[in-house]
Formats: sequence, C-alpha cells, structure tokens
Amino acid sequence: MQSKGSGISGFYKLSVDERRKLLAKEYGLIEEDLKALETGGLGIDVADKMIENVIGTIAYPIGVATNFLVNGKDVLVPMALEEASVVAAASKAAKIARAGGGFTAVADEPVMIGTVQLVDVRDPSEAVYRINEKRNEIIRMGNEVLPEIIRKAGGFKGYDLKVLYTDSGPMVELYFYVHVLDAMGANTVDTVAETLAPYLADLAGGRYLLRIISNYAIRRMARAHARFPISELGENGSRVAQDLIHAYNLARADVFRAVTHNKGIMNGIIAVANAIFNDTRAIEAGAHAYACRSGGYQPLTSYRIDGDYVVGQIELPLQVATVGGSVGLNRVSKVALKLMGNPTSKELAEIMASVGLAQNFAAMYALVTEGIQKGHMKLHARSLALSAGARIDEVDEVVRMMIEKNTISYDAAKGYLEKLRSSKGASQHP
Ligand code: MEV
Repeated sequence: MQSKGSGISGFYKLSVDERRKLLAKEYGLIEEDLKALETGGLGIDVADKMIENVIGTIAYPIGVATNFLVNGKDVLVPMALEEASVVAAASKAAKIARAGGGFTAVADEPVMIGTVQLVDVRDPSEAVYRINEKRNEIIRMGNEVLPEIIRKAGGFKGYDLKVLYTDSGPMVELYFYVHVLDAMGANTVDTVAETLAPYLADLAGGRYLLRIISNYAIRRMARAHARFPISELGENGSRVAQDLIHAYNLARADVFRAVTHNKGIMNGIIAVANAIFNDTRAIEAGAHAYACRSGGYQPLTSYRIDGDYVVGQIELPLQVATVGGSVGLNRVSKVALKLMGNPTSKELAEIMASVGLAQNFAAMYALVTEGIQKGHMKLHARSLALSAGARIDEVDEVVRMMIEKNTISYDAAKGYLEKLRSSKGASQHP
C-alpha cells in the first residue's frame, strides 16, 4: 500500500489531463499507463481472446477516491462504474474517517473453498470413514497439482466432509481449502477438485458429479472498522449520529432497506473490482450469501455510538485478486493496482472492505441529512447535459440552468443547451 498523500485536496477541481499528470508524477505512471487510461486499456485483439463472439469493448469512467487512510497508510482508490456520486461520496466519508484515525482493516489469508459432490453412495457414513482413512493421500494429491503455489507457501490446507440428505437422496460433499496466494483462485481450485474427484468416488463407492469452487468464500473474510467523529457530522452532529443508528436499525429490521443498504456497500466494492478487472459476480454472490448467514438478509455493516464517535464496522467475504485470471489483461487494471501501491490480495481486500464501509457511511449520512438526490442530481445533470450534446465548456452552464429551475431531465438539458447557444450566438452577433 502507498504512503503517498491520498488526501490530495481539490483533486476534483483539476481537468482530466491535470489529474493524470499529477498521478503520473506522484505514482510513477508511464506513457503506456496514461495511454491505457485514455483508451480503456483493452485492445480488441485481447478482447477477442477473452470471451466468445466478440464485437467490441465497452468503457467505464474510472476515477479515484481520495482521503483513504487504511491501516495507517494513505491509499488512492481507483473506482470504475457508471453511477454518479459514488466516488465523491467515498472520498467524503474517507475524509470524515480520516479525522478519526482512518480505517483499521484486516483480511484473512487468501484461502478458497472447493467442493466435490459424490452421488450414488450406498453407505454415506462408511464413505466418510473410508475417505478420512486416506486423508494424507488426499492432501498429497491436492498439493501435487499445485507446485508453483506450494513453492510460494500456498497450497492445499485440508478438507471437511458432509453427508447431505437431498431430494435426490443422500450425497457426500467434500469441502477442501486452498491457499491461492494473490489469485482469485477459481482455476486452481477447480483443477484440484477435478484431480481429487475420481479417487474420492472410488473410496466412497459412488460416482462424482460436481467439482467446483464455492464462491461462499468464508475462509477469505475481510473486516474493517472506522471511528467517524461526531464533531465532523455538521452542526447537528449528535442528532445526525442518532439518526445514523436509526438508519442502521431499519436495515436490520427490514429486508427492503437491508438490500439497498448493501447495494450501496457494493457500489464501492464493485467499483474497485471493476477497476482491477476482477470477477464481480463472485464477490457479489459471496457477499449476499454472507448477509443471509443468520437465516434472514442482514446489513453487512454495523454501527454504534461510542462517546464522541460513530463507530462503523464491515465484515464480508472478499475473493479478490491482484494476479491471474483477467487482472493482467487490461493495462488499466495494472495502473489501478499501481495507484494502490501494488497491494497483495490480502491488502487489497482490506482496502476494499474499507471502501465498502466508507460508501455505506456516506450513503447513510446523505440519507439522514439532505437526502440522496441533491448531490446525486447535480452529477446526474452533468451526464444529461453531455448526452444532450453539450460541449465540455457548455456543461457547467447547462447544469446550472437545470438546477436553478429544478428541471433535471434530458429534454430540459436539450432545451437549455439550445437556449445557451442561441444567447451566445446573439451576444457574438449583436
Ligand atoms: C445508490 O446507488 C445507493 C444508495 O441507495 C445506498 C443506500 O440507500 O444506502 C444511496
């Protein structure tokens, strides 16, 4: 992680070019990095090798959230997504958290879970017994296909067995654990599952069927907490603090709110995942399953008041990678990692958990104070002005007109743009 100044003030006031130049200087971005940021980083030739029937690529805006202090280190957080306000909100919450000492985060070692399903097992208890007799052999076989990972101190870390009574009869399921280093781990785990399956089926006197990773990555948890000083919450800080707790308790009591609460968390986490070309579906699936661990869907964050602070916490599985898979296929993901100081996957999970907490705090703060629309609509108005055809030098004026008249829509943007152009035309040709 970085110890450079993520608390860059006024970053948002710079032009895109000035921002890039500043980052190039501070973070050692080279010409190729800057070019990738400009083009989206994914050439059509590489894209054509990534998925099937390729016809093109689609670009997201990528921005950086500022003010993040994670485990005492400044970190600039790259975020790629289509939604306005998210980057600004994360930066704002990180600034408040910073005044309370920043985020303290800790992630587990990157251990992923794989599964092998055994069916048509005549005697499941006997099967479990026979498999366990060969525990050492199973561990040896698991490690045998992971020479590179073993060399770097990862590898097969053991297994558990479960007998499941399903609608299609009893089954035995093996859960095994692999330390996958800095990868997400799907390929590694699936290879191990396919290697072990025939041997296990033999021992069980049955047949193997599914051999696949579990994205319920609860051996790869990330946790972060932050102390948000009440003094930083505006004039009515104490009231705001109480209202934040009311907002949190609504999410605990009501699934309709909990889902939106967690969606806000994922706004931050997935934006970082996008920026580094990670598998966002795996992260989402694992996180939402974890939110249901008590039997009902619950918020992934929790809050309490402790003296002069609102203390926020987050806990979720984070299967994130800094190498492997598609991470290296897009130069932008390398730039994004560079901006974060080339973290390990464990450090990355710590940063991402902190971002999730910041995002959630920012959303709740906005909701209990001015509401979400004010800030959101200003940024939304910018997108509308651009899609209505405004040039960069016209955007601010069109936005100003929309906000002043409280009519924020595509048609309004078009109308104000025409008005602006005709008034300019008129002033140029008196
Ligand atoms: C919008 O993308 C996310 C929020 O709805 C999250 C929340 O309500 O907590 C603002």
